[in-house]
Amino acid sequence: MTLVEAPHSTRSVVVTVAAVIEETTDARSLVFDVPAESRERLKYKPGQFLTLRIPSEREGSVARCYSLASSPFTDELLKVTVKRTDGGFGSHWLCDNVAVGDSIEVLPPAGVFTVVDLDEDVALFAAGSGITPVMSILKSLLDQGKGKVALFYANRDENAVIFAAELRELAAKYDDRLTIVHWLESVQGRPTIGQLATLSQHWTDRRAYICGPKPFMDAIHESLANAGASRSKIHTEIFVSLTGDPFAPVVEELISLDATDGPAPASVEVEMDGESHEMIWPRSATLVDVMLSKNLDVPYSCREGECGSCACRVLDGEVEMGNSSILDPADIEEGYILACQARPVSDRLKIEF
Ligand SMILES: Cc1cc2nc3c(=O)[nH]c(=O)nc-3n(C[C@H](O)[C@H](O)[C@H](O)COP(=O)(O)OP(=O)(O)OC[C@H]3O[C@@H](n4cnc5c(N)ncnc54)[C@H](O)[C@@H]3O)c2cc1C
Ligand code: FES
Repeated sequence: MTLVEAPHSTRSVVVTVAAVIEETTDARSLVFDVPAESRERLKYKPGQFLTLRIPSEREGSVARCYSLASSPFTDELLKVTVKRTDGGFGSHWLCDNVAVGDSIEVLPPAGVFTVVDLDEDVALFAAGSGITPVMSILKSLLDQGKGKVALFYANRDENAVIFAAELRELAAKYDDRLTIVHWLESVQGRPTIGQLATLSQHWTDRRAYICGPKPFMDAIHESLANAGASRSKIHTEIFVSLTGDPFAPVVEELISLDATDGPAPASVEVEMDGESHEMIWPRSATLVDVMLSKNLDVPYSCREGECGSCACRVLDGEVEMGNSSILDPADIEEGYILACQARPVSDRLKIEF
């Protein structure tokens, strides 16, 4: 039973499971109905993810991120697709316990693995459950854009192909714009860098979006780089399990905004939701800490540089970052930083969420 009576966090929303779809033997989709008053808070861009609160007898709850496989342009309801991870807790819990009518607590959509230009020609690379954000991007591009879309999709075997029927329908409907190349490890073995380079050589000028296990993403990266693709046009999404609990109440760290014993604080102008906020930014505090201390509704989930929820852009000034390994060169080139990892270097900064 997964009934949530009241949200555990002021930032979370309780959604109702409207449908459960068995996609393959080890992956199922959960379709969520969103209460009318929360629709605005759960608006999302193609490629973004939700963070779900999963009950745990041992720890009370754990938080896990799941990409939205639905498209904000073509799907009325929100859909995430969960694939069982060997030995994993959250994915098995969701696949074994969730039923239609249950309630689940989620944090608002987040992440920077989103479409840069709906009209561009793009190349999409997915393996296994990495298809989920890619599917949202694919459907959005086909529905809204004018460009050509190539999808390379690798799986263990035919039975492991998530969204096989939906992809067949899209390929028939958009036969002049969509090319899908399926790769089955059971038939073709693991793709080598050479094979991938041969395959993707016609797409190296295109912006690329990649999601899958790390060895797969590394191989695609290397084959695209070998073929001369620009790193600034390669976008990746990394699937990891969060280690912290973003649903727990935030223990406010005492931030002394007028501390005199350390270096003089910086000042920052933050633009968010069409509003501008001026703040003092102590050198030892992260931007998320500072914004929380001002009761601003800053987006965050893990606060450990693992999820990308807090990504924002530096318009002016310089920051130093703790753990920012999830940002890829394309994000960094566009000025993205992680607010939960950023501390000021310049005296004056301007940042946009
Ligand atoms: C932005 C983002 C989007 C994502 N989107 C999706 C998606 O669309 N679909 C999807 O299926 N997943 C997605 N994920 C991954 C998802 O969040 C989970 O990481 C995944 O479901 C595994 O969670 P789990 O609780 O089942 O596994 P966990 O319990 O976290 O375990 C993960 C692995 O670690 C091992 N392990 C666990 N505890 C220990 C320990 N103490 N010591 C050693 N090893 C241990 C387990 O055996 C297992 O192999 C996404 C992740 C991110 C960050
Ligand atoms: S909150 Fe997860 S990366 Fe910052």
